[in-house]
Amino acid sequence: MKLLVCENIEEFSTVAANLIYNSIHHSKASVCLPTGSTPIPVYEKLVSMMQDDKAFAEVKFFNLDEYAGLEPTHHQSYAYFLNQHLYSHIPIRNEQLLLINGANDPQDECKRYDTLIDEISRFDVVVDGIGTNGHIAFNEPADHFIPRTHISEISATTLQANRRFFKENEIMPLQAITLGFEDIMKAKKVILLATGPSKKEVIRRFLSEKKITTQFPISLLNMHPDLTLIVDSEAYSESI
Ligand code: F6R
Repeated sequence: MKLLVCENIEEFSTVAANLIYNSIHHSKASVCLPTGSTPIPVYEKLVSMMQDDKAFAEVKFFNLDEYAGLEPTHHQSYAYFLNQHLYSHIPIRNEQLLLINGANDPQDECKRYDTLIDEISRFDVVVDGIGTNGHIAFNEPADHFIPRTHISEISATTLQANRRFFKENEIMPLQAITLGFEDIMKAKKVILLATGPSKKEVIRRFLSEKKITTQFPISLLNMHPDLTLIVDSEAYSESI
């Protein structure tokens, strides 16, 4: 694993955007991207880097996960989020977007997504943030994992963490559709992003405990041959 500790958000977003940019800067690349607060400054950088760049004209953009039951146009759907922060600002065509549709029948949607992934065989790069409980995409701590795209019960910790994105009286979905660990582990490269003091404990645990357990999903990534973890100084403690 490669660990990159950045001084501040400016450095973090530049380093992360450059790594993503270089990993997909060739035709036929495929990338799977997350939502959340962590990647927002990274997407801002990517938007300016990708302007007028024709190298991305064939790149396939997948989303890591999606709330079950939300239309892609819903303001809290992950399709909407990525559209707002990235896709609508870069010179790509709609056909390049291969997104989970939260409004489709969830079981059928999982199968459809696996078929789309099978067509590319594996991702060039999977980017993800990290939940405070160690979740990766919506693979929450559990006694077992489902390898491919599946319906996940969102944990109480994650529901609480993501509540801030919803309006006060808005109902939050309790289930999500998520990429499974098989496709994350098969990716040529995995880039993990974490910033801010709320991620300090999960990063400390990941770097210090060399134990692999489904109760701490991020720990599985210890087995990935090309993992880069990019953190800012607030998410990193010297005392590991
Ligand atoms: C989102 C995703 C999640 C988030 C994680 C961290 O697509 O896959 O695993 O990356 O919940 O979220 P933030 O960045 O809001 O702390």
